[in-house]
Amino acid sequence: MSRRIRKAVFPVAGLGTRFLPATKTVPKEMLPIIDRPLIQYAVDEAIEAGCDTLIFVTNRYKHAVADYFDKAYELEEKLEKAGKLAQLEVVRNPLPPNVRAVFVTQTEALGLGHAVLCAKPVVGDEPFAVILPDDLIWNRGPGALTQMADAAEASGASMIAVQDVPHDKTDSYGIVATEDFADRQGRIRAMVEKPKPADAPSTLAVVGRYVLNPRIFALLESTTPGAGGEIQLTDAISALLAEEAVHAYRFRGTRFDCGTHIGLIEATIRYALDHEKLSEAAAAMMQSALDELGVRELE
Ligand code: UTP
Repeated sequence: MSRRIRKAVFPVAGLGTRFLPATKTVPKEMLPIIDRPLIQYAVDEAIEAGCDTLIFVTNRYKHAVADYFDKAYELEEKLEKAGKLAQLEVVRNPLPPNVRAVFVTQTEALGLGHAVLCAKPVVGDEPFAVILPDDLIWNRGPGALTQMADAAEASGASMIAVQDVPHDKTDSYGIVATEDFADRQGRIRAMVEKPKPADAPSTLAVVGRYVLNPRIFALLESTTPGAGGEIQLTDAISALLAEEAVHAYRFRGTRFDCGTHIGLIEATIRYALDHEKLSEAAAAMMQSALDELGVRELE
């Protein structure tokens, strides 16, 4: 595998139960950080990495994701008439002209591995990316997927994004054991799902970015349901690394776990503090909220 990835898969068919009741009607991927939904950040990262085919694996309740990337005739007309040209521009071009969006339905939520497998007919026989939009990765330089796509193109290996986590948190993640780690990457020997700190082979945790060889599809097809009756992507990757090189890639950037309440709050605060127009007001507002809380604590 030394071709550049062109296709990115966004598995967005999960139920998002941690964000109920909001996710009863709003897909998790449509939750905003400031004024852009999580899916927009993920799509921008894929396009920056060179992807021109975006494959969304959705379910029948997730019309909002497809609608977001579709034309909104009535809204555009109203904005045009009102002379709101900046807003019109934002709404009119959700994707650059060379990029196409493809929607695939996962009829039953049978797991992340199954969702990726649903994209097989569109991906075909080439390396591709998988992005989990609720893992939001912020970096001042090239995005995480660009870094991984470059590394995959250079080495020909599949790439799994990893980050260091505190030793006492290994039981919340998939943890990798690698051979000699150099220049941000190392070949994976084994992946362990949520090991207790005492059993963890490292503190390198898998996060939601992958560049995968298409061989993964055959392995997913023969993967039997694992934890929770779901077809796990991790199980198929474990089978892949027994056959060929799969590297853990420690990306540059900060990852926010926006699949959790605190992660979404953290991302909102960080993006606000870094925002061109909002940073000053956001910092002042946070300071006064902290002061107020401090006063209350002293009382
Ligand atoms: P999560 O484990 O975060 O599950 O899935 P979830 O349903 O989205 O959220 P919670 O845990 O109930 O709050 C990881 C990724 O895999 C996708 C999800 O949309 C998410 O991007 N996924 C999961 C699918 O596309 N299909 C599935 O059957 C399961």
